[in-house]
Amino acid sequence: MSETTLVIIKPDVVEAGNVGKVLARYEEAGLSIVAMDLRTIDGEFADRHYEEHLERDFYPNLRTFMTSGPMVPLVLRGEGSVARVRELNGATDPTKADPGTIRADFGESGPRNAVHASDSTESAAREIALWFPGL
Ligand code: TYD
Ligand code: MG
Repeated sequence: MSETTLVIIKPDVVEAGNVGKVLARYEEAGLSIVAMDLRTIDGEFADRHYEEHLERDFYPNLRTFMTSGPMVPLVLRGEGSVARVRELNGATDPTKADPGTIRADFGESGPRNAVHASDSTESAAREIALWFPGL
């Protein structure tokens, strides 16, 4: 079924000048961009995005990183896009991500793992409404 998912190309990728290469991975997989922006967020917005992680020990570092510079949030549409995008992204820890995945190729470690993607259709609906209200 065609569905939409929220992706964020994180500050590490923007800083390294690899946004185009990451976008190409999604486009080459047949996914369509239906919304996109270049945006810097504050800590309060990061807390809303990562509401399930607020109490985790890694969250303070993640919050600092996600507010450190501009990012590219986007909405992708395609067949099974929620699962497909997470496959393309690879494992959360870039050092454990399969070769050829976005995180293996563009991530480093810890919070600097190149991309975010919604983990379910429910999360996608919540995150799309947060980042692109009215879409
Ligand atoms: P999580 O939602 O578990 O991973 P994913 O992005 O694959 O859905 O975690 C959110 C982000 O938090 C993750 O992209 C990177 C960061 N993080 C850490 O820095 N250390 C950790 O141990 C974990 C689990 C996540
Ligand atoms: Mg997650």
